[in-house]
Amino acid sequence: MADVRIAGLEKRYGDHLVLPGLDITVADGECFTLLGPSGCGKTVLLRLVAGFEAPSAGTVAIGGVAMADAAAGTMVPPNQRGLGMVFQDYAVWPHMNVTDNVAYPLKLAGVPAEEMRRRASAAVAMVGLGGLEKRLPSELSGGQQQRVALARALVSEPRLLLLDEPLNNLDANLREEMRFEIKALQRKLGVTVFYVTHDQEIALGISDRLAVMDASGRLRQIGTPEEIYEHPADAFVFGFLGVSNFLPMRKGADGWLAGAALAPWSGIPPDCGGDVCRAGFRPSDVILSRGGEGLDGVVQRASFLGSTMDYLIDVAGTPVRAAMHSHECLEKGLMFAEGEACRVSLAAVHWFPGSDAEDAR
Ligand SMILES: Nc1ncnc2c1ncn2[C@@H]1O[C@H](COP(=O)(O)OP(=O)(O)O)[C@@H](O)[C@H]1O
Ligand SMILES: [Mg+2]
Repeated sequence: MADVRIAGLEKRYGDHLVLPGLDITVADGECFTLLGPSGCGKTVLLRLVAGFEAPSAGTVAIGGVAMADAAAGTMVPPNQRGLGMVFQDYAVWPHMNVTDNVAYPLKLAGVPAEEMRRRASAAVAMVGLGGLEKRLPSELSGGQQQRVALARALVSEPRLLLLDEPLNNLDANLREEMRFEIKALQRKLGVTVFYVTHDQEIALGISDRLAVMDASGRLRQIGTPEEIYEHPADAFVFGFLGVSNFLPMRKGADGWLAGAALAPWSGIPPDCGGDVCRAGFRPSDVILSRGGEGLDGVVQRASFLGSTMDYLIDVAGTPVRAAMHSHECLEKGLMFAEGEACRVSLAAVHWFPGSDAEDAR
């Protein structure tokens, strides 16, 4: 078993509190992602789980065994925690070939030469680098170097794999391919994966469950990708999971008013328990027409992106992003030019209380 239990975990550097008391449980065999903005404490958290840092308060247990306990003074060293780790910057040895890089942890552990060769070669094959065993890192692409780092993390057959933004330095196509491969490897090996990233697409695509952390290191929501995408706990979570629009709404004497310029709102009344709120919606949930229902808008920017048209629309003084399939725009005569008027209605809205822009960041 390699479940991870993090309880009341706190890390401070001097008077800078990075993690303010964190509780997370990762189930055995689960692929769990912590998603949060740059600087929120993701790397610090993984270093605490790995044992490169000691907590200021709280506990970390792996497989039911205490690895770090600030109160009890427990601190198991990294090489005794049964885990593998891959960092953003690969950190492969430049002077060692692929096999020697991958075999290195086994060499440190004193594994006999024959077994070491067999296991390194199996790990190299597993990440798709068979045939490149004798190459130096300088003779490999960035994606191949990252595979070396992955094979090296897996060669000791860890119970737990910690991944710290390992795909950041790869181009978009390769990032997508590696994301599928990591997921496939995790399923095949049954290893518990604890992944941290600021990239919401990776987090949604790879995770069984994910946690969303804000800039101050506080957890805003934990759940499956579908739960978090469909039922965001607050405006921050909604804003972090993709391109988002927030249209301010205010209750007037004769009904609700929308946008900075307070245009009368005839759509579904807001459901947010107050007189001031925000409608949160994705660009793909904006319905544009030339004379239908909704609010008046003026197209500020129209970008043809191939399969989609991307519009920036001024809706009652508030900028709104809209995305429509190009085919649909052509068929329905909805290819708007910059400066043209349009009507804007919404197919799906998440209501958030208050008008505070800060909590959406
Ligand atoms: N050794 C350290 N000493 C002081 N501050 C640190 C140290 N390591 C990290 N920090 C601070 O902790 C915060 C979180 O950093 P980090 O975990 O690297 O963020 P990220 O979520 O981008 O991985 C940052 O403000 C960083 O400056
Ligand atoms: Mg980091």
